[in-house]
Amino acid sequence: MTTESRGDGNPAIENLMAEKRVFPPDPAFSRQANAQASLYDEAERDYVEFWARQARERLTWTKPFETALEWDLPFAKWFVGGELNVAYNCLDRHVEAGLGDKVAYHWIGEPGDTRTLTYADLLREVGKAANALRELGVEKGDRVAIYMPMIPELPIAMLACARIGAPHTVVFGGFSAEALAGRINDCGAKVLITADGGFRRGKEVGLKHHADEALAATPSIKAAIVVNRTGHDIHMVPGRDHWWHDIVERQSPDCAPVPVDSEHMLYLLYTSGTTAKPKGILHTTAGYLLGTSYSHEMIFDLKPDDVYWCAADIGWVTGHSYIVYGPLANAATGVMYEGAPDTPTWERWWEIVEQYRVTILYMAPTAIRAFMKQGTHHPAAHDLTTLRVLGSVGEPINPEAWLWYHEHVGGGRAPIVDTWWQTETGQILLTPLPGVTVTKPGSATFPFPGIGADVVDANGDTVPFGGGGYLVLTRPWPAMLRGIYGDPERYRETYWKRFPGKYFAGDGAKRDEEGYFWLLGRVDDVMNVAGHRISTTEVESALVDHKSVAEAAVVGTKDDVTGQSIFAFVILKADQTPSDALAVQLREHVAYVIGPIARPKQLMFVPDLPKTRSGKIMRRLLRDIAEGRALGDTTTLADAGVVDIIREHSGRAEE
Ligand code: WT7
Repeated sequence: MTTESRGDGNPAIENLMAEKRVFPPDPAFSRQANAQASLYDEAERDYVEFWARQARERLTWTKPFETALEWDLPFAKWFVGGELNVAYNCLDRHVEAGLGDKVAYHWIGEPGDTRTLTYADLLREVGKAANALRELGVEKGDRVAIYMPMIPELPIAMLACARIGAPHTVVFGGFSAEALAGRINDCGAKVLITADGGFRRGKEVGLKHHADEALAATPSIKAAIVVNRTGHDIHMVPGRDHWWHDIVERQSPDCAPVPVDSEHMLYLLYTSGTTAKPKGILHTTAGYLLGTSYSHEMIFDLKPDDVYWCAADIGWVTGHSYIVYGPLANAATGVMYEGAPDTPTWERWWEIVEQYRVTILYMAPTAIRAFMKQGTHHPAAHDLTTLRVLGSVGEPINPEAWLWYHEHVGGGRAPIVDTWWQTETGQILLTPLPGVTVTKPGSATFPFPGIGADVVDANGDTVPFGGGGYLVLTRPWPAMLRGIYGDPERYRETYWKRFPGKYFAGDGAKRDEEGYFWLLGRVDDVMNVAGHRISTTEVESALVDHKSVAEAAVVGTKDDVTGQSIFAFVILKADQTPSDALAVQLREHVAYVIGPIARPKQLMFVPDLPKTRSGKIMRRLLRDIAEGRALGDTTTLADAGVVDIIREHSGRAEE
């Protein structure tokens, strides 16, 4: 393994790439920005009091908390003794404040149908759905599983659970029956909320038949609620299954929000490790709502008139924190889109930005690179001048993708916030503050005010600026996970054992001479070439730096001489053709940009890359391909056809 402790004085991870371009904030933006530089000092003076003040001012409590933090490492309790209700904080209080007619979501279905939901609409629908859950016997503390496409009933279902204190677990609609059953059984969910299906890439994607298969093996489920989305013929099990339009529609919209303890479980979200059993990441109420709403307002500079679009799926934590809970607690107007970026054409997202006059856009580098591959004409054909803040999340963003986003989407004006966080962290932890931070393309810059982060070596000692190592978090934060459901030992083992007293994120990182954080990818992916520990991210960024390249993935493969050698998979831009000469040029380009040690020994042109459904490259499968092995577990792969296509291209590998 490449992540073992090394006592030999070699750096944990090399720092090879140097990005020199800097982007200072526009003074006009800074003057109007929500976040000012003084936040850092204020939070540093007393980070617990900093969060406590925010919690008192921003959240509406039915009972105020007594103690801001009880920290029994690694178990945190925030805002102890307080009581509140998340749905009340996201809906009722806005309606009471006169914002009932404000749009909460502009929803757009992939086939082109639309719905607009105001805060008053949402409150009414949530009340009805909550009463339906009650009718099915769901009580405070009971778990509810949700398996749905990106339709308004999804956030409505989540808020209905929160309203009655029933923790939800959302299972992404792309997951299999087996994955759904495993998650339901792990948490013992009582009710499942699902739909007949959804629309994706111009096709109807069925959900209910997967749900039926799952429910054959989930004894805890007593009932299911099914939304009619596609109108497709499905089987309803009498006595168990209820149509949403029957059981929800006939309820009263009045449902009193149930006050719950600050540390009451709000939800579980399962993260699929690539091999091991998925972990039920446990998030609770007050700290989570505070962490997501405060970070959302500061990092995206949210103003009352903004139109905010986070183009993630609610099935991932990005959607939980930054489509549902954070934005709704802030009374934001959001866009919610059901479909894929290329359907019906690559114009679709830019049409939505233009039509809804989107001002804040938050998306993943994988989507940015997919757009880059198509060329600049799609964004150029639309009026994107309303955009004033751009966000990135999910993976390291290569400098070239950052610059493309900046220029072709942000018109060179809109600041970019590259936000690092995890399912486990609940809220964004490393990020620029727009209007405050001088950004550097590819760097997530600094910890958010109040957050403690460090880069350490294998012994847990701080790596001086200029060096690489392991990213750790040094203090508790409000939206942090409270554990892994039902498995406190695994929680300690996974996150707190490697570096005692510190949270180990599993990511490599470096800091440059000015202390900027640069994420280097998962430490399990670090390559070891002749004793040099090289980050996949840096080599990939060097490849994408070449004008012909749209996207790249690199892996270390066994090498008799150097231990491992670098194998690169490259996707060219749409107007480029693969050739042996270009392969040589690209390998030399990496050597030129970051040094000969990082020159890929082999390079293969591919039309696509194997990714998880959340867009992360599955390097394990690429290693299998590079080393000519049978493929390992492919259950989390988004598109199983991709590996076959890559294999057909294997003839093109360059030595
Ligand atoms: C992992 C967490 C955060 C919500 C979506 C993913 C990678 C995430 C960045 C970023 C570099 C990033 C890390 C992290 N990651 N954001 N801005 N720069 N890497 O949540 O599925 O729990 O994945 O995503 O490797 O550990 P997740």
